Amino acid sequence: MRFQTLVSLSTVSLSIFIAKVNGAPYSRDLAVDWDVHPWMAPGPDDLRSPCPGLNALANHGFLPRDGKGLNVSVVLDAALEGFNVQPEVLTAAAKLGLLTSNDPLSFTLDDLKVHGVIEHDTSLSRQDIALGDNLHFNEEIFSTLANANPGKDFYDVNSAGEVMFQRLQQDIVANPNITNTAQTAAMRSGESALYLSTMGDASTGKAPKNFVQILFREERLPVAEGWQRSSTPIDGETLNGLLNSIMMASNWTSSGECEPPASIV
Ligand code: HEM
Ligand SMILES: *[C@@H]1O[C@H](CO)[C@@H](O)[C@H](O)[C@H]1NC(C)=O
Ligand SMILES: *[C@@H]1O[C@H](CO)[C@@H](O)[C@H](O)[C@H]1NC(C)=O
Ligand SMILES: *[C@@H]1O[C@H](CO)[C@@H](O)[C@H](O)[C@H]1NC(C)=O
Ligand SMILES: [Mg+2]
Repeated sequence: MRFQTLVSLSTVSLSIFIAKVNGAPYSRDLAVDWDVHPWMAPGPDDLRSPCPGLNALANHGFLPRDGKGLNVSVVLDAALEGFNVQPEVLTAAAKLGLLTSNDPLSFTLDDLKVHGVIEHDTSLSRQDIALGDNLHFNEEIFSTLANANPGKDFYDVNSAGEVMFQRLQQDIVANPNITNTAQTAAMRSGESALYLSTMGDASTGKAPKNFVQILFREERLPVAEGWQRSSTPIDGETLNGLLNSIMMASNWTSSGECEPPASIV
């Protein structure tokens, strides 16, 4: 696959992959060859995850289409190739992925649904595990994000924060056993920063609504609709900037239980 990509693009440039030198971002300096990476729905034996980003990468063949045999380098490479997300941003998540499987060296997309490693309550598009299916897309849950920022054709850090706030209010009522900690709030903010960055402008955090909705609903990269992989490398600086703005806009507070008292933090 990699060699096919190289060969089909070699007339333009040989430098597909520029290693990180003196802090320069890793990048693939050429456009993705979408003929090599068409969207295909998963087959009956293909595994998928609670993550729309990874599922879309698998549906386009940046990750193995069967969703199996993943490891840290396979995942980081796919995120770079498909989204221009720099490895530094996802290394921790990819390592945590290994903790969800029985095999010490690899994991499947399905493994990632294990609750409490990466998967958490109050998702944007999946039900809480205590209430049902924490793996598959759920249109009813997604409707909060789908209907956000009325009258505009984009989402941004303010609408993302509002969606986080609304989902939390709904979920506090729906799930008496909700886990809502500073850590899950930060993860939720990071995931919101990821949909804004990958589907929109990684610097401003503005993303067209239809691109975001296609990512979640179809787990497809909206190439036909005019989406292009971010030309701005999505790195710790861009992502943390958006994450913090989203967290602020979400007015997040702990619901209290199971958190250590402030005096020992
Ligand atoms: C490639 C770039 C990535 C993008 C654009 C992305 C995007 C997202 C988004 C938007 C969500 C929130 C889904 C929701 O709330 O319904 C999410 C959740 C998740 N992501 Fe990713 N992600 C990426 C990489 C990763 C990586 C590297 C891992 C781990 C190997 C990962 C594992 C997960 C898991 C387990 C969830 C479920 C959390 C939950 O909502 O309960 N993601 N991701
Ligand atoms: C990850 O998996 C790929 C593909 O199976 C393999 O070539 C590579 O050696 C593995 N890397 C690590 C660090 O396990
Ligand atoms: C919450 O946890 C309690 C005690 O473990 C259990 O009895 C109850 O069924 C749970 N409720 C939900 C909605 O999961
Ligand atoms: C957060 O609080 C500010 C100040 O009270 C308020 O203006 C804003 O609407 C709140 N946002 C959300 C999402 O609740
Ligand atoms: Mg979840």
